Amino acid sequence: MNFELKTLDLKAAVSHACDALIVLVTADFKPATDAVSRLIAQARASGDLDATPAKLLSIWRTPGVTASRVVLVSVGEGSARLVRQAVTAAATSLKAAAPKKITICLPDGTQQRLQAAAQAVADASYVYTATKPSAKAAVLNRVVLALPSAAKTQAAKDDFAHARAHVAGVALAREWGNRPANHATPSMLAKVAQTLGKHKRVRCQVLGPKEIEKLGMGSFAAVARGSHEPMRFIVLHYDGAAKTQAPTVLVGKGITFDTGGISLKPGAGMDEMKFDMCGAASVLGTFEALAQLQPAINVVGLIPTCENMPDGTALKPGDVVTSMSGQTIEVLNTDAEGRLILCDALTYATRFKPRAVIDIATLTGACVVSLGAVRSGLFSPSDELAHALQEAGEAALDPCWRLPLDDEYAEGLKSNFADVANVGGRDGGAITAAKFLQRFAKDYPWAHLDIAGSAWKSGAAKGATGRPVGLLLQYLLGTVAKPAKSTQRRAA
Ligand code: BES
Ligand code: MN
Ligand code: ZN
Repeated sequence: MNFELKTLDLKAAVSHACDALIVLVTADFKPATDAVSRLIAQARASGDLDATPAKLLSIWRTPGVTASRVVLVSVGEGSARLVRQAVTAAATSLKAAAPKKITICLPDGTQQRLQAAAQAVADASYVYTATKPSAKAAVLNRVVLALPSAAKTQAAKDDFAHARAHVAGVALAREWGNRPANHATPSMLAKVAQTLGKHKRVRCQVLGPKEIEKLGMGSFAAVARGSHEPMRFIVLHYDGAAKTQAPTVLVGKGITFDTGGISLKPGAGMDEMKFDMCGAASVLGTFEALAQLQPAINVVGLIPTCENMPDGTALKPGDVVTSMSGQTIEVLNTDAEGRLILCDALTYATRFKPRAVIDIATLTGACVVSLGAVRSGLFSPSDELAHALQEAGEAALDPCWRLPLDDEYAEGLKSNFADVANVGGRDGGAITAAKFLQRFAKDYPWAHLDIAGSAWKSGAAKGATGRPVGLLLQYLLGTVAKPAKSTQRRAA
């Protein structure tokens, strides 16, 4: 989808050529004398345009307006959340009309609003076609984001670039999340990463079974053992700053299908375990956004990826494996496989002397029970890192919620036969999983995002969401070093 930023007040919007004009109307809207303003004023007066957020009024071929369709939509006080809600409602209402070019008239203002509008229209018009030839591909290909006066400022241009990169990153994560396991194997994810590696400042390295074994990743390799698909360890680099600047490392869980292994999952709904690589997809999506934006930071992406299958060669309950860290692990449940592949990637991360490491994983059903689909679970022993991630989530409308890491939660992970067991009891399952990971993340500030509830939707709207690319991108852009005040003055 092509986005464009334009200066366009309502007076100019009247003669603007597009298939559909979406006009966001704030509660304090002051009508001017143009045709659209008059329409809004009349609709308000007659009670046809309710001021309740997301209430809309569609108008077809109105005299004096070039666009053949006008959708007026209320946005209350105009917060980013309400902008998202309003644009979603308006774009959804236009689906049957299948417009090719939409123009959205926004109030002047924040990056968040621009991003919310862009993401909402992209989400509403997404169509999955990769394995569904009968699906009608999306026809919408041009979206103009119109601001009444501010579009020419550098701030607006930067905000727009961020919004556009955000949309592209989410789209990539969403698309790969959706692809079925036989169309998104570990080797195929590695290909996606290699393609990203062609961008300026991006490098990609892919390790296969031999190299992974050689590194001593016995825990990761043990999970992959039951599958005929060869495992991959993907290493992505985005080098946007001096080599001396410590990178942020993102680690994404890439289980392309989770049957549970010998601790087999029940059949109902098992198809949704194709989404068990959404953490990996969010890392790939974030790199797509970084490649577009080229910010002055260093980022490393690590993706351990394999299938979790039952087989004669598969890992068995009670087996003890040796992780790359040297710690041995008693595998009491082969369905707790995410932590087994992540722990070795967390150990590998140490070599980059990172400023912070964030892992992203569809890790536990328990997290879905705790937080549902609204907020991702956030775990971190570092208040500073936790706060930065929480704030990024709020700003990007991709929120998370912090859960505790008291040592008492690790009690259940004790084992008589290894340094640690891979499961505790049923209670507090999202936290025990995080406590397991924490043992392997002692060398740097670390945070863990459990996206089991937020990464995809079930039911009629079944599909990946592309989360938490928004949160990650927002967070990473916040780590760009700001020039010191004195240097700024000297430069000016
Ligand atoms: N991928 C699942 C987690 C999951 C389950 C995400 C359901 C979304 C919906 C993970 O590998 C898993 O199976 N976790 C187990 C852990 C348990 C065995 C301690 C779980 O949550 O049941
Ligand atoms: Mn599992
Ligand atoms: Zn899993």
